[in-house]
Amino acid sequence: MRTINWNDDLSVGIAEIDEDHRHLVQYLNDLFAACFAGQGPAVLKKTLAHVKEYTRVHFAHEEDYMRKVGFPDLQSHHEQHAELISELDDLIEEFESGADHELSNKTLQFLEDWLLHHILIEDKRIGRHTGAID
Ligand SMILES: [Fe+2]
Repeated sequence: MRTINWNDDLSVGIAEIDEDHRHLVQYLNDLFAACFAGQGPAVLKKTLAHVKEYTRVHFAHEEDYMRKVGFPDLQSHHEQHAELISELDDLIEEFESGADHELSNKTLQFLEDWLLHHILIEDKRIGRHTGAID
């Protein structure tokens, strides 16, 4: 079964943001587990909705933090967040009309790629801005 393991490479050097990211990874792993267990579309849709809800709260938290520390690229970072939320809405809609193996795989791959890329490339810029990481 696919699992994302949290490791220090994922740390952006800011404890409160790392903490959110750890939870987010856990939510994704829950989604992986639900797919692996062959859960039906209703369960997958609900799990995906939890991922979206947590993600939305986390993004608001992260954007507050960026505002607080005067992060210069807040606007473009915010746009990336908004884009993911809208992608999640589309995926949830697709799950509504039934989930097959292909849709589940597509969703998991997309979320894993998005999250890891976003943390490693974009969120680390916040840590660098504050001097928390090199
Ligand atoms: Fe972010």
